[in-house]
Amino acid sequence: MNIDLMLSQRQADFLKDNILERISAAIESGQFIMGTEVAELEQKLSAYYGAHHAIACANGTDALTLALMAFDLKPGEVVFTPSFTYVATAEAISILNGITYFVDVADDFNIDPSSLRLSIEDAKSKGLKIRGIITVDLFGQPVDYEAIKSIALENNLFFISDAAQAYGATIHGHGVGGLADITTTSFFPTKPLGCYGDGGMMFTNNDKHAQKLRSLSLHGRGDDKYHHINIGMNSRLDTIQACVLLEKFQNFDAEITTRNELADFYNEHLSNIVKTPTVPSNKKSAWAVYQLLHDERDIIIGELKKAGIPSNVYYPIPLHLQPAYLNSYRAQNLEKSEHFSAKIFCLPMHAYLEKAEQEYIVTTLKNTLKSL
Ligand SMILES: Cc1ncc(COP(=O)(O)O)c(C=O)c1O
Repeated sequence: MNIDLMLSQRQADFLKDNILERISAAIESGQFIMGTEVAELEQKLSAYYGAHHAIACANGTDALTLALMAFDLKPGEVVFTPSFTYVATAEAISILNGITYFVDVADDFNIDPSSLRLSIEDAKSKGLKIRGIITVDLFGQPVDYEAIKSIALENNLFFISDAAQAYGATIHGHGVGGLADITTTSFFPTKPLGCYGDGGMMFTNNDKHAQKLRSLSLHGRGDDKYHHINIGMNSRLDTIQACVLLEKFQNFDAEITTRNELADFYNEHLSNIVKTPTVPSNKKSAWAVYQLLHDERDIIIGELKKAGIPSNVYYPIPLHLQPAYLNSYRAQNLEKSEHFSAKIFCLPMHAYLEKAEQEYIVTTLKNTLKSL
């Protein structure tokens, strides 16, 4: 069996003709930068994700950096963010010389509101200038937007949601793209909606933020191309990547449903032998990653590999223990983040796993767990 972890060649085979046709038309048009496909993609993705505005950019890390720039983050100002995430979340803060203040996560792997409150009080007591919060919809599951929003409002902090792994997630059946002040995502190829290179997008309901994000992503552009009202950057989505995404988007809703069915299948067959992930009934995950926890995860990953089943560890070292971030702040021991880093591993997750492969994965994993 040839099992892919996240990005399946079968998706490329299924969509290739349509993607190539669209790319070919874009080449004919000669509009390689900011072609009409980029605007069409922004319109479709904002509507689906429940946000008034979408602004495409070059990647998910830029999307976070631009969002922080939109709030005019200054050197030395504090942004709270979970320690258990991909490095890009914190990196965007550090690139702008902000202070990363690491917060612990809860059982759903997302930022823990009580740890966030504690961290805010701690930062205040140290006299630090606190500015904002970046949450992460980790592995595809939406954070508790209501709780974070009220903490942000109480403390006059901006709220950026890093949804790099969660485009397509919903709460009460509605897209979550307009719930934070600014929500960002990534189209890195392994993401639920991925392109064939780098790409990113920012979503907001706020007209002023949308205007500023657009300007910042286009060299601080004002009235025209050679008029500059902000110090910005060059962060645009290529027309060719927009073509790929438009074609993939046609099948995206069906893929999210299939990902959810696969997660249900794993849960049903594995929950009596290992602790499986849960998603509250009002939320739908985009299932970027299907993750499990086990004391013997390295042995398990080895056994799965021998059987031709790929696995990976997201993330082996929490950010507060990374050499580059040892000087960051935290109010407490980040026990959950460290615990998850030590025990986590994942199973193949994409919309193109055949039933026989799904059954092979659960049988192999069950046999491995029983033998431990
Ligand atoms: C949680 C998170 N934030 C940010 C990013 C950065 O996205 P990109 O690789 O498009 O810069 C990623 C993706 O790798 C991610 O998983």
